[in-house]
Amino acid sequence: MNLSAAVFIVTIILCAANSALSIRFPDRIPDSVDGGSDQPLKTAVFALGSFWWSEAAFGCLDGVVRTAAVYAGGSKPNPEYRSLGDHAESVQIEYDPRIISFRQLLDIFWTSHDSRQVFGQGPDVGNQYRSIIFTNGTEESRYAALSKEKEQTRSKNSVVATQIQQLGLFYPAEPEHQKFELKRNPFLLQLIGNLAEEELERSSLATKLNGYAAELCPTRMQKQIDAKINDIVRKGWPILREI
Ligand SMILES: *[C@@H]1O[C@H](CO)[C@@H](O)[C@H](O)[C@H]1NC(C)=O
Repeated sequence: MNLSAAVFIVTIILCAANSALSIRFPDRIPDSVDGGSDQPLKTAVFALGSFWWSEAAFGCLDGVVRTAAVYAGGSKPNPEYRSLGDHAESVQIEYDPRIISFRQLLDIFWTSHDSRQVFGQGPDVGNQYRSIIFTNGTEESRYAALSKEKEQTRSKNSVVATQIQQLGLFYPAEPEHQKFELKRNPFLLQLIGNLAEEELERSSLATKLNGYAAELCPTRMQKQIDAKINDIVRKGWPILREI
């Protein structure tokens, strides 16, 4: 047998083993609101520290269809992780306004980070971790200003550092920063069938599981996903029984 034939056979065996190990959820969690809906999805963008964390903080909410790690708030064209210029690490949220509102997203924004911290967030220090609410239109600007005032009255002894900015151009972060929490969890990745990168970035299920991986799901959703995973594991996954 020549070398290329051997490589070919090994490749086939690897592919077969890989697909035997891959399993998909029997159905999606929850019913996807993706596509087919007559009302278009809306987009919100927030900066609240590391975009790894920010994606996970919003991904598991009812009504959030998709999240992405993006660079926003700066003027540098085509920012990159190692040279993002004046941009902030941000999360782009696509949501169904019939299920969750911009104001509810604002509530999650405030409870998911320390808006009083200047020039950083938690252990992450730097301008790229600043806190920003991006708004599109006067109504969102008004909601943002009102919620910031409310947050300031709650925070008597320190100034809320959050900026409110009109949403301008923003840029997707590199693939390795997308769904970062989920990618740290090979078990969950395999559970949804080791999706290709582009599919992973579009997937509502991956968006939810990214929040789940970071333990940031609301309790009810957390339990629902726990139950589903336990069910799959009980039915015999992921043991490879024979080759
Ligand atoms: C901003 O709002 C306008 C009008 O509602 C909408 O057409 C546009 O898509 C919005 N931009 C983003 C980034 O969501």
